[in-house]
Amino acid sequence: EWSMANFVEEQVDIIREQVGDKNVLCALSGGVDSSIVAALIHQAIGDQLTCMFIDHGLLRKGEAESVMETFAGEFSMNIIKIEAKDRFLGKLDGVSDPEQKRKIIGNEFIYLFEEEAGKLENMDFLAQGTLYTDIIESGTDTAQTIKSHHNVGGLPEDMHFELIEPLKTLFKDEVRKLGEELGVPEEIVWRQPFPGPGLGIRVLGEITDEKLTIVRDSDAILREEIKLAGLDREIWQYFTALPNMRSVGVMGDARTYDYTVGIRAVTSIDGMTSDWARIPYDVLEKISTRIVNEVAHVNRVVYDVTSKPPSTIEWE
Ligand code: XMP
Repeated sequence: EWSMANFVEEQVDIIREQVGDKNVLCALSGGVDSSIVAALIHQAIGDQLTCMFIDHGLLRKGEAESVMETFAGEFSMNIIKIEAKDRFLGKLDGVSDPEQKRKIIGNEFIYLFEEEAGKLENMDFLAQGTLYTDIIESGTDTAQTIKSHHNVGGLPEDMHFELIEPLKTLFKDEVRKLGEELGVPEEIVWRQPFPGPGLGIRVLGEITDEKLTIVRDSDAILREEIKLAGLDREIWQYFTALPNMRSVGVMGDARTYDYTVGIRAVTSIDGMTSDWARIPYDVLEKISTRIVNEVAHVNRVVYDVTSKPPSTIEWE
């Protein structure tokens, strides 16, 4: 009889058989798929697994810390953390075109992964969180042709690894169940989709440290309030974006000229189409008030009420 517990047992045997006494490398992004594939392989082969976690400086608030706490801490996995914020921001300096930003981030990610993987000895296998849907849908994702999607953890093509893809028969909901079975924390199992280029495509136009801080801090407030309102499982994806504009406001007796933060929250099945989420006005009010009060250089908050199509979910 098929059960998740049996699936784990079966996969553990298969992975042990395949790997023998060799070693496996896994690019951990903190997303659902790479986290759960790492947890499964770790259950099978323990210290023969090494994870590489590249922090490109474009992650959400607290994300890098939580990945390290969970996997290096609770799971005691071997994790190599690469701090690469300066490298990525350097490459992105002065770049404002969205597709160019995606390319730079995606390419840099692969170069860096190759560089760092090259320093490791005796790595024979590369683990990937490929799902069934990734296999059947590859090439037919229209979003892919509209925005070039670079998924963190994409395989560098000329590296000589043997692939391990134990999730490739599973759908997303099954992967979540697997994660629960393996004891992966709920906040990771139920994490909303997050694009590979991260906050790099949520700061519209040129990326600066100041703008990243605004989008990161406002996004953290939004997430907190959505969770508090009990809406976090209902809304498919929710985040803030920072349009490249400022407008006039008033604070005390003084005129301000500061940034506008955009809130995006959508309901969707698969991200291909979406509707804007009907967040209750009182929740929106609280989010807006907190953002202008707590995040410096923001004097206006707007809510995106467009569906996809004609919009996209992300603003870039
Ligand atoms: P759009 O904005 O195209 O987004 O409606 C659809 C879904 O895809 C995510 N997305 C990306 N994911 N790399 C990714 O890995 C990307 O460059 C990228 N662009 C958009 C987006 O967050 C949404 O879930």
